[in-house]
Amino acid sequence: MKITKICCIGAGYVGGPTMAVIAQKCPDIKVTVVDLNEARIAAWNDKDTNNIPIYEPGLAEVVAEARGRNLFFSTEVEKAIDEAEMIFISVNTPTKTYGSGKGMAADLKYIELCARQIARVSKSNKIVVEKSTLPVRTAEAIKNILDNTGNGVRFQILSNPEFLAEGTAVQDLLNPDRILIGGDTTEEGQNAINALVDVYANWVAKERILTTNLWSSELSKLTANAFLAQRVSSINALSELCEKTGADVSEVAKAIGMDSRIGPKFLKASVGFGGSCFQKDILNLVYIAKAYGLNEVADYWEQVIIMNDHQKRRFSHKIVTTLYNTVSGKKIAFLGWAFKKDTNDTRESAAIYVADDLINEQAELYVFDPKVAEGQILSDLNYLDSRTAEENKKQVTVAASPYEACKDAHAIAVLTEWDEFRDYDWKKIYDNMMKPAFVFDGRNILDAKQLTEMGFIYKGIGS
Ligand code: NAD
Ligand code: UDX
Repeated sequence: MKITKICCIGAGYVGGPTMAVIAQKCPDIKVTVVDLNEARIAAWNDKDTNNIPIYEPGLAEVVAEARGRNLFFSTEVEKAIDEAEMIFISVNTPTKTYGSGKGMAADLKYIELCARQIARVSKSNKIVVEKSTLPVRTAEAIKNILDNTGNGVRFQILSNPEFLAEGTAVQDLLNPDRILIGGDTTEEGQNAINALVDVYANWVAKERILTTNLWSSELSKLTANAFLAQRVSSINALSELCEKTGADVSEVAKAIGMDSRIGPKFLKASVGFGGSCFQKDILNLVYIAKAYGLNEVADYWEQVIIMNDHQKRRFSHKIVTTLYNTVSGKKIAFLGWAFKKDTNDTRESAAIYVADDLINEQAELYVFDPKVAEGQILSDLNYLDSRTAEENKKQVTVAASPYEACKDAHAIAVLTEWDEFRDYDWKKIYDNMMKPAFVFDGRNILDAKQLTEMGFIYKGIGS
């Protein structure tokens, strides 16, 4: 079966970039990305592609090339479902905030709504592709809904998890390590798999397209994120030991990373991992393990989160203790708010939790991030519900430049590894700060030696 029309439900961080690249690479396929969020769709359709809702290097150019040709963004969900032969579900699957599984399980209500809508609207056979990250065996639930509430048409469900990382989404999509497609082992299932393989084969080498059964594919996505996050928590755990023993975590990471069995990537000690995926997906894995009564398995993976929470808290605690046990009334500058560089995404960013701790200690925060706007920073803090919005606004100022953020500050905390932070005029920053001038580099990106020579008291992670 040759696919000519694709619909993607969900125009977020995954749906938007993924579909833009499919459209760019498959000019013969009409790709329509739909979302209930009108403002988001309007932004994707903005005449100036620099105003699209997601900042990703290279994305504006891909959208500019394909949009209006074979890439469309729309709020007409039902029309797009009806037209398409293949429907990607790329909606959010956040951690549940209510009821059983609260704080752990994935909230699948948006997925179920999509399945019911697809069933209701479809008048021809469809391939439904799970692009969202889902608990293992979700395809079974989707199939039940589709088969029991549909109009007698046939559905095939595929699992095609997305492995892109934010900040490098376009590169990851253009040159993926692998594409994973899980499907039914029946002939019809294999035909559906092949139809999706053919879409990706327009630009991805066949050897990199891996096909499996549905459950292996669903579980591999949670597993990949758990392994990646575990590496960060492992090196962060060692960073604390380095600080006590005189070892330097960067040197330790290099030394172990040169072992080809370990490898050098994902060994950067930091203030803690953030992002919308790692914590959510591990909690989900822990929940699934517990649901099967596998308590030791659950405890093992939960430790990755416990370590990460500890690392964030340890960072704010270190700022307080180093500043003579009080930051009350002191100005602290935050460089960075995004959960990593080259994205405007702040979901679960370590900066939010460090800020919350320091506000509890009555610090006055001045935040500068090259891509995150004031409204987002305040709403991230308000979402924690630690205090009123007015109180947050009183304690937090969003600065227009790094120099403004750092002027008269007692300390600077680096929360995101934006490249531009290295190139600032650090002498000018030093001259305008309170003395002693402290830098807490939560990403180990600044030149410790140079800053120390200028007069800063520099504290990195793990040394
Ligand atoms: P997102 O919140 O940015 O986007 C989801 C979009 O779906 C929203 O715009 C929302 O309005 C829309 N939506 C929800 N229900 C809808 C419905 N019934 N009809 C139409 N639109 C609807 O989320 P995201 O970051 O793109 O993540 C989507 C999924 O992909 C999640 O399962 C996530 O775990 C997974 N994932 C995310 C990343 C990442 O880097 N962000 C990477 C890999 C996988
Ligand atoms: C992650 C996965 O990498 C990706 O495959 C999946 O599809 C979605 O989740 P993402 O969260 O976008 O991607 O970014 P990632 O590069 O994995 O970083 C996650 C967090 O870990 C960031 O806060 C980052 O700063 C932190 N990190 C990463 C470290 O602290 N040290 C490292 O060595 C690597």
